[in-house]
Amino acid sequence: MNRIDVHSHLLPGLDDGCQTMEESIECARLLVKSGYSHAFCTPHVWPNLPDNSPQEIAQRTVELQMALNMERIELKVFPGGEINLRPDTIETPPDQMVTYGMNGHYCLIDLWAQTLPDFFEPSVRWMQSLGLTVVLAHPERMRAIQDQPELVDEIGAMGVLLQGNLHCLVDPPDSMTRIRVEEFLCDDRYFMLGSDLHRLQSLPPRMAGIQRAIELVGEDAVDRLTMENPAKLLGIK
Ligand SMILES: [Fe+2]
Repeated sequence: MNRIDVHSHLLPGLDDGCQTMEESIECARLLVKSGYSHAFCTPHVWPNLPDNSPQEIAQRTVELQMALNMERIELKVFPGGEINLRPDTIETPPDQMVTYGMNGHYCLIDLWAQTLPDFFEPSVRWMQSLGLTVVLAHPERMRAIQDQPELVDEIGAMGVLLQGNLHCLVDPPDSMTRIRVEEFLCDDRYFMLGSDLHRLQSLPPRMAGIQRAIELVGEDAVDRLTMENPAKLLGIK
């Protein structure tokens, strides 16, 4: 097994990621060239995208896999989703919660907030009560955490795992995303690193982020964050 991408907007036409099957195929080709053998397709789960249900995402992932097989691109894709955490997330019927591999073990959330909202912890506790391990996407991109990096301790104490974005590792050196991602990576805060790929043109810098991560923490640590830990999402805790 090579690397596993844990965060990608690879499914065509479901969100602001790849727009056509051709674009998805080219992104997949580049992932394979960059050393990936597996990718989770994690479209945005937003209220204005009601079709991004577990069933629909799973079906679209099968269709993408068939297209990749036709092109002989050796990337195995799995369904998933990036749940935008909102006050009403806890009203989601449990069987409609989008999880990695739709296997009910891990879920990926994102949150855009200036400060950690009051509904954060109850929402996390509710998801954990369903047996889910919650993974927070790209904390380095959250204003609340940029301003107060110590919040990652509080979030970690809730049992929430962190996923860093490869792109942030090649952002301008003085940007807050770059400063925080390097800090969290060097402090061993992340459970895994993902590309968060959207469109084809932004994929090369995301892949360059792997090299920057290796420069900072070495090959073994990056393998753990892009292979060993992501493999746990496939269903074995
Ligand atoms: Fe994303």
